[in-house]
Amino acid sequence: MRRPFIAANWKMNKTISETQEFISGFVLTVKDITDVDIAIAPPFTYLTVAAEKLKDTNVMLAAQDVFYAEKGAYTGEISPIMLINIGCKYVIIGHSERRQYFNETDDIVNKKIKAAKKAGLGTIFCIGESLEDRESKKTFDVLQKEIEEGLNGVDSEGIVIAYEPIWAIGTGKTATSEQAQEAHAYIRERFRTLYGNKADEIRIIYGGSVTPENIDSLMAGKDVDGALVGGASLKVESFVKIINFKKGS
Ligand code: 13P
Repeated sequence: MRRPFIAANWKMNKTISETQEFISGFVLTVKDITDVDIAIAPPFTYLTVAAEKLKDTNVMLAAQDVFYAEKGAYTGEISPIMLINIGCKYVIIGHSERRQYFNETDDIVNKKIKAAKKAGLGTIFCIGESLEDRESKKTFDVLQKEIEEGLNGVDSEGIVIAYEPIWAIGTGKTATSEQAQEAHAYIRERFRTLYGNKADEIRIIYGGSVTPENIDSLMAGKDVDGALVGGASLKVESFVKIINFKKGS
């Protein structure tokens, strides 16, 4: 069976001391959880302090983005090797905020996934439709294009997919459990075309206004394998409640 994967995407939030304080309390609270993969993606500038605090714990360090070159004259960018070097296990790639504000195309996302995998990083590859896409019934077309172009020439090893409908991100408007399950089932079918039976092993997690109140019903979907949590991951209490979701309720 697929092991649940719950990750925090802190986006551009917190200070160093808030990061230290959060992680100190958090790791103690979740230390006995053995049946969920847990990751935290703080901003780049806090990766070092977070890595120190997460050492020898059951919480993995993740980054929010990466560049695709190994090294060189790319002012402001961070390479996959640098992330490995600092202790990251995963990196978020293709988040809709990067696509929207930083013009990341499917081609750039594909290059980043390839580079991250080559360096040995697991990838949390984000896809999802806008409200306009959904209202014009183009959700599946958008997902298909993002999957096919993002994963072009990529095997399934180390890939976690985050289905994040753009209209649900930071809006308090979560997808219903039926909408999430429908999209996740579609994504798994696309994977079956690409990867055959390996599709059953790939974790597809949901993101978009996940809270302690809605996590149980979202996780009840048979193809929903976890969550990528923004706002509700900024407080230890709410993030821990999400990690302690009840399957099947
Ligand atoms: P929110 O949980 O704040 O809606 O953010 C979701 C998200 O974008 C996670 O990557």
